Amino acid sequence: MPKKIKKQIKEEIALPKGTFDILPSDEKYWERVENVAKNISREYGFVKIETPIFEHSNVYLRTIGEATDVVEKQMYYLKTKGDKLVLRPEGTAGIARAYLVNGLFEQPQPVKLFYFGPFFRYEQPQSGRFRQFHQFGLELIGDQDPINDAEIINILCEIFNKFGVKNLAIELNSIGCKLCRPKFKSALLKYYRPKVKNLCQNCKQRIDVNPLRLLDCKEEGCRKFIENAPQIVDKLCEDCKNHFKLVIEYLDELGLPYILNPHLVRGFDYYTKTVFEIFYEDSIENHKPNQLALASGGRYDYLVKELGGRAAPAVGGAFGFERLIGQMKKQNVKINDLFEPEVFVIQLGPTAKKKALKLFENLRKSGFKAAQSFGKDSLATQLARADRLKVKTALILGQKEIFDESIIIKEMDTGVQETIPMEKLMERLKEKLR
Ligand code: HAM
Repeated sequence: MPKKIKKQIKEEIALPKGTFDILPSDEKYWERVENVAKNISREYGFVKIETPIFEHSNVYLRTIGEATDVVEKQMYYLKTKGDKLVLRPEGTAGIARAYLVNGLFEQPQPVKLFYFGPFFRYEQPQSGRFRQFHQFGLELIGDQDPINDAEIINILCEIFNKFGVKNLAIELNSIGCKLCRPKFKSALLKYYRPKVKNLCQNCKQRIDVNPLRLLDCKEEGCRKFIENAPQIVDKLCEDCKNHFKLVIEYLDELGLPYILNPHLVRGFDYYTKTVFEIFYEDSIENHKPNQLALASGGRYDYLVKELGGRAAPAVGGAFGFERLIGQMKKQNVKINDLFEPEVFVIQLGPTAKKKALKLFENLRKSGFKAAQSFGKDSLATQLARADRLKVKTALILGQKEIFDESIIIKEMDTGVQETIPMEKLMERLKEKLR
């Protein structure tokens, strides 16, 4: 094919920006992370829920907030014959929608759900930030007890710990409720109004639509104002103050170290009271702001009501697969291959090939982890493959063995081999491998 056409085809079918293929070499990370997260969640009483990857846009417009980056800039709208559908940018709002439309509020409360899958945001891709990414999330709906906030943080940390990702920095804040947040917003506006001309373009817009986000600005010029900005903890109502105090006490009880970050506000409007982000750190003292969080979440007591249901206090959190796996690789966390064969069937000659086919089936059905490369006929090639797979034992079946009704068992590490009657094979393998 001429080079020019080759190039053209390549571009036309190139991977969309900010996405990636999960190749077989990485499958073991993805599967282990999913399984560990699922098992740990189940140990804490969570059950699985799956929701569609697209929803009506209102599910997000009503809950995340119209003046947020995700809704303003990052949602993928689908071209449809009329429905206003979007690819889900996050999980919480969709889960709350499912809680409502499926009447899960009629079940004993709280309802404890976990989910995982792909999510979509039109972001500027960079390391650890993608346009299609994968989250594992936990949502506990129908209970306002602050012990649940601590439990969600604890489960996420337990999942990370299971993979040896231990040095975690938990940033924590409370952003209050409908009662106390307006007072804080006024204090914030009073502080920021005189400084407005010195703010970045984004913050100039945020000041009227979503002043809390001023505290989240990453621009150098705005950061100096954030340092001295009023802190919401000083304005919390009694209920929010007590709630926050108890979350902290429960985290202390669990021995989970945290950093109180009065400027942590998170990017979605649905949050109330507790918000948190979890980072990996070499040491908690080294913790720098502006890194990418491994996990994040918080309480969202009004979300279900905002979708049209009865008030259902809730709390949840989610971690990104890509960021956790990236961290595991950086820390050289060892993950075993998903299938590690112990015995390899080698065949030499057409009759042996036929018999080997049946032998492989028998081995597999008897519970041995068997491998083969029946498409290859040379002994050297088959032995090399067995070697690459790191099997303990190779079974060699040639013309002579077929004739004698025997088989050769070869120890791959020592090279020692023995010939035994075929009928004794399973018994001998059990002695060797079990
Ligand atoms: P979020 O902070 O937007 O919160 O995302 C949660 C986690 O997903 C992040 O901490 C990060 O690990 C990962 N993540 C987010 N965006 C990307 C991206 N573009 N590329 C790669 N990873 C990403 C939520 O989505 C909330 N729904 C969490 C929650 C659950 N709050 C309450 N319940």
